Amino acid sequence: MAEEKQKYAVIGWPIEHSASPQMHNAGFRASGIKAVYERIATPPAKLSATIDKLIDKGFRGWNVTVPHKEAVIPFLDDISPEAELAGSVNTIAVSNGRLRGYSTDGFGLEQAIQEAFHIPAAGHSFFFIGAGGATKATAVHYARQGADKIWVINRTIEKARQICGIINTATKADKAQAVALSEQKKWQQLLNSADVIIQATSLGLKDDDPLPIPAETIPENKNIYDMIYRLTPFLQEARKRNCQTAAGEGMLLYQGVKSFELWTGQTAPAEAMRRALKTAMAERD
Ligand code: ATR
Repeated sequence: MAEEKQKYAVIGWPIEHSASPQMHNAGFRASGIKAVYERIATPPAKLSATIDKLIDKGFRGWNVTVPHKEAVIPFLDDISPEAELAGSVNTIAVSNGRLRGYSTDGFGLEQAIQEAFHIPAAGHSFFFIGAGGATKATAVHYARQGADKIWVINRTIEKARQICGIINTATKADKAQAVALSEQKKWQQLLNSADVIIQATSLGLKDDDPLPIPAETIPENKNIYDMIYRLTPFLQEARKRNCQTAAGEGMLLYQGVKSFELWTGQTAPAEAMRRALKTAMAERD
């Protein structure tokens, strides 16, 4: 009898644009693992029923994306310290019927920034623009990996303060500082001195979105990472100022690499996954 394929998935809403199936299926093929990874559209009202179904059907693990990264936490038996601190889970692994949640987004961002700019977390300063789910999921990782300073600016200051408060409590140090987007004088100096600027708002998904910060505030010759998977108007402005820039694909790849390794216990075939991701993105554009 043919060996049954292991089952994996990504749950989210909407989910049809996710390139994770192509990336993970290529990874499984390249590693000779008999497995299949699918997209499962999961509206918020169906989250609980979908999780039950995945367990019943014997799924080994799944990724969790917007809008469920926080909402899945009550369904878990166990959570990694980083995911717990961040209040964000993007990877679930099933072991003996128990669900363990992880957050691999911060690892993904750090690897992507290391690859693009050769700057690790430890000993460096990072300036996050935005304090939504993307910053929440990743800034804690930077703090735990020994970042020197983490600055978070946001239109809604309370959200930035909440993230910085979690970091400062967890690291027992005053590493993180929140500043309101409206207080440009206060953050301009910090922006100028940051080793990496990370664009983590949703602005730039659409071409007619405003820039997340005024063009004239973008410093010359900086390392700028945009979590959005395209050359955003913000990155275009940054390039005009001789900045080194990179867009979100690297983060998507490396969060997937880490998920793959958590599920399989094997080193992920990152180059095969990268190629599949590139092809999937090109077909989607
Ligand atoms: P998610 O949690 O899915 O990332 P979100 O919480 O709405 O979504 O976060 C989106 C980020 O983009 C936030 O930092 C948001 O700022 P607010 O927290 O003040 O809402 C930011 N953002 C979205 N539209 C914006 C705009 N027009 N101007 C400034 N910031 C904006």
